[in-house]
Amino acid sequence: MLYRMKQFFNGIFAQGAEGEEVELLREALPEEEMRLFFQMNKADQRHALNVLKTAQSLLQDAGIGQQNVIQAEEARKLLVRCCLLHDVGRGYEMGPVRKSLAVLLDSLFPNWAREYDRNDAAGYLGKILYRYYKHAAIGSEMLRKQGLTEEAKIVALHHQEGFSGLDEQQKVILLVLKQADNLN
Ligand SMILES: [Fe+2]
Ligand SMILES: [Fe+2]
Repeated sequence: MLYRMKQFFNGIFAQGAEGEEVELLREALPEEEMRLFFQMNKADQRHALNVLKTAQSLLQDAGIGQQNVIQAEEARKLLVRCCLLHDVGRGYEMGPVRKSLAVLLDSLFPNWAREYDRNDAAGYLGKILYRYYKHAAIGSEMLRKQGLTEEAKIVALHHQEGFSGLDEQQKVILLVLKQADNLN
């Protein structure tokens, strides 16, 4: 509960990318994907940047034993893009208030909430729940359309068990992404 409250207030006061972070984004993301990043709500932009920071420090932690697999420059860049873009499917409107409402409905009325999750045109709650439950699939499709097929495969699974269709390197990237996401 305390964690959720902290998350809510962090979200309300979140600043989008600034200063050096904008440079980092420019280096990491092609133009179209930069646009996707900035289409996110400021709270989600901040969340994505925090996930990236955490993922990078997880990689430095020899304890997780994943460094060897992600040593190649390309793999590291893929991890960076996955961290920055993993929640693009939430869309601009999914700010901290809507997100908290979705979390609340999911914990109080899980069956109803799952059933009420429909599509963007399903009214206020229907849309919130749709974006909450389906953002991984929506984001994955957005990335696939931009030609980012590896990122699309990884992002699709970031709230699921399993590694369906991923190679060894992509599996490790997904693991690091999920771990970093859970810590933020
Ligand atoms: Fe997510
Ligand atoms: Fe996330």
